[in-house]
Amino acid sequence: MTYRVKAAITGVAAHLPEYVLTNEELSRMVDTSDEWIMTRIGIKERRILREPGKATSDLGAEAVRKLLLKTNTQANEISLLLCATVTPDMQFPATANIISDKVGIKNAFSFDINAGCSGFIYTLETARRFIESGQHKKVIVVGAEKMSSIVDYSDRTTCPIFGDGAAAVLLEPATDDNYIIDSMLQVDGAGRKWLHQKAGGSLKPASFETVAAKEHFIYQEGQPVFKAAVSNMADISVEMMKKHQLTADTLQWLVPHQANMRIIEATARRMGIQKEQVMINIERYGNTTSATIPLCLWEWENKLKKGDNVILAAFGAGFTWGAIYLKWAYNTN
Ligand code: UT7
Repeated sequence: MTYRVKAAITGVAAHLPEYVLTNEELSRMVDTSDEWIMTRIGIKERRILREPGKATSDLGAEAVRKLLLKTNTQANEISLLLCATVTPDMQFPATANIISDKVGIKNAFSFDINAGCSGFIYTLETARRFIESGQHKKVIVVGAEKMSSIVDYSDRTTCPIFGDGAAAVLLEPATDDNYIIDSMLQVDGAGRKWLHQKAGGSLKPASFETVAAKEHFIYQEGQPVFKAAVSNMADISVEMMKKHQLTADTLQWLVPHQANMRIIEATARRMGIQKEQVMINIERYGNTTSATIPLCLWEWENKLKKGDNVILAAFGAGFTWGAIYLKWAYNTN
């Protein structure tokens, strides 16, 4: 199906909690070191939301508030808000509903999408279809996570990886040839055995036993996830380049999910592009799951030029993975 109306990203904003958890502090909590974390993952520090009573929706709402302000948009102009998250405030209602309430979005509908670390690209793909339908003029996609709420800070194999944060983009009908052009999204649910949260859902509701067994934290077997991430993220990004006859010279930016520096480097290598063409901020924020890609777009916004060819790529729990190809739609100055 081809659509007449196309969807463009017309703004991006972010919110990060203030507290910085460094590798030095982590080394005092578990048997690890700055050297190990830097060489195996590439993370120096991550942000943590420590204020009691604050949740994913607070990070998301702050990012959306900044986005509305920055793009000169009124809350009542938004007709749809989608939130990508694996750390919802609660099982229900959706965190998107809570964010909408906190920022005063009342003229809209909203829901969450859980696609692990591919959450942002799954949600962006969903959101752009509402713009393309012609029935929505302003749609927000927010990726927001309080990963620290499901990280076991006594498990050295997972606690260095994750961080908290949120970032949001505004989608509007494109006014020229710069818009979201194509997407390739994939799933392999069999991969769930390597990366999941054991308890708290309908399979194993919360109980004293599940808490005692630490089954509400992230469970990950790093190596199989690493292997699948490297091959699938690289394959799909290369496939996207081929499909659109993009080369290292015509592709300006790769925006990869920030899970591991080695996964990012392997993907860039397979695509034949230089490190300067890759947005990387894993060193400062770690893996913020659904927020990594929009956090990069936010940090690189000033360097992005109208018409730039951009590929977003991710791999995560599910397994889910995919790539989105877009032409950046605006200059900031
Ligand atoms: O974003 C969602 C998708 N998730 C991912 O993409 C994560 C993919 N996986 C990874 O990024 C990597 O597998 C990890 C970063 C999780 C682990 O790195 P690794 O190179 O695969 O290490 P490993 O699990 O093979 O462990 C190597 C060694 C082990 O010791 P032995 O058995 O060789 O003696 C671990 O016990 O490193 C040890 N180790 C640590 N040592 C110091 C594991 N964690 C740590 C640590 N500090 N934090």
